[in-house]
Amino acid sequence: MLKIVNVVGARPNFMKVAPIHYLMKNSHKINPLLVHTGQHYDEKMSKTFFIELEMPEPDLYLGVGSGTHAQQTAAVMVAMEKMLQEERPDWLLVVGDVNSTLASSIAAAKLNIPVAHVESGLRSFDRQMPEEINRILTDSIADMLFVTEQSGLDNLEKEGIPSDKVCFVGNVMIDSLVQHLQKASQENTLKDMQVEPDQYVLMTLHRPSNVDNKENFIKILNAVQTIKKDYPIIFPIHPRSKKMIDEFGLQSLVDGVKLVEPLGYLAFLNLMSKAKLVLTDSGGIQEETTYLGIPCLTIRENTERPVTVEIGTNRLVGVETKDILGAYSAIFSELKKAQIPPLWDGKAAERIVDFFLNI
Ligand code: UD1
Repeated sequence: MLKIVNVVGARPNFMKVAPIHYLMKNSHKINPLLVHTGQHYDEKMSKTFFIELEMPEPDLYLGVGSGTHAQQTAAVMVAMEKMLQEERPDWLLVVGDVNSTLASSIAAAKLNIPVAHVESGLRSFDRQMPEEINRILTDSIADMLFVTEQSGLDNLEKEGIPSDKVCFVGNVMIDSLVQHLQKASQENTLKDMQVEPDQYVLMTLHRPSNVDNKENFIKILNAVQTIKKDYPIIFPIHPRSKKMIDEFGLQSLVDGVKLVEPLGYLAFLNLMSKAKLVLTDSGGIQEETTYLGIPCLTIRENTERPVTVEIGTNRLVGVETKDILGAYSAIFSELKKAQIPPLWDGKAAERIVDFFLNI
């Protein structure tokens, strides 16, 4: 039996690990342990996802919580090291680019436990983003790198990562989407929010560069005030953004916007799949809207997921009010028929688990 520790920590990790953990458990040749670092801990940021994705309770919960980057990363490293020394798994598997991803990888690498990184090779080339640092460092110490799109292969080759450590498997986040889309469509979310299909805008915003910076946050919300005149805007608000609206006193700029608590996976998927437009600064939502063919304006200067712009429905618009509104006026007439990127077919987790079964 191969013993593999699958790590989750923050909201965008859960839907990536769920299909991998499920297939490992059912392989009867792998003994997977699910370890939750506790980076995200609120019910709406964590537990709801376990229930909706039908994931088992974590085998171990490290309970690290929030903190500065150094505090959070260090807390995960200390707790992860202790757990790994006790469990001595054959592999550690991490996904994405959050602090828990990097911290767990460092702890394992120093104990000579091989690390597999899912979603390797993505690069925004913007080191102001904490996630970019996490991506570069995790990839540099990983022993097996699973890639979602061609740019990931190209970046890893340029960085000199040997090709026998790299495997193009597709996108596990899309596996979860494919599995849950039908169930999501039966949710009553649109009725609850009092909106009609294709007649509302869905927005998410939580990047520190957008919401921790007052000037940028105001520019974005000014654009939102104009778009709101055409369509109702639903804004499930991340705890970080909520805190910053209060701290900066920006309540008047979200007047008339449907501010709601963070939504569960199914409700959000339902809203996203029927939206007229999505405004976001999230990484994963750029991919999900591409798969769904929903127009997406990404409120960032760059993306580590260029395939979503090259063949998908995504447009990068930055933070300037006029640029956001310019792209908004043009997007519906300019939108070409989007394509689904190669290997985003709902079978990425199978390819990953096959790798471990064939070691
Ligand atoms: C983290 C990830 C980011 C990801 C995002 C998804 C890093 C560096 N960032 O950002 O890549 O896109 O998760 O949500 O890992 N908080 C709560 N409840 C929670 C968790 C957090 O209230 O359950 C609040 C705390 O005030 C905390 C703040 O949100 O200080 C930020 O949380 P943190 O995990 O540091 O980063 P995120 O902004 O969530």
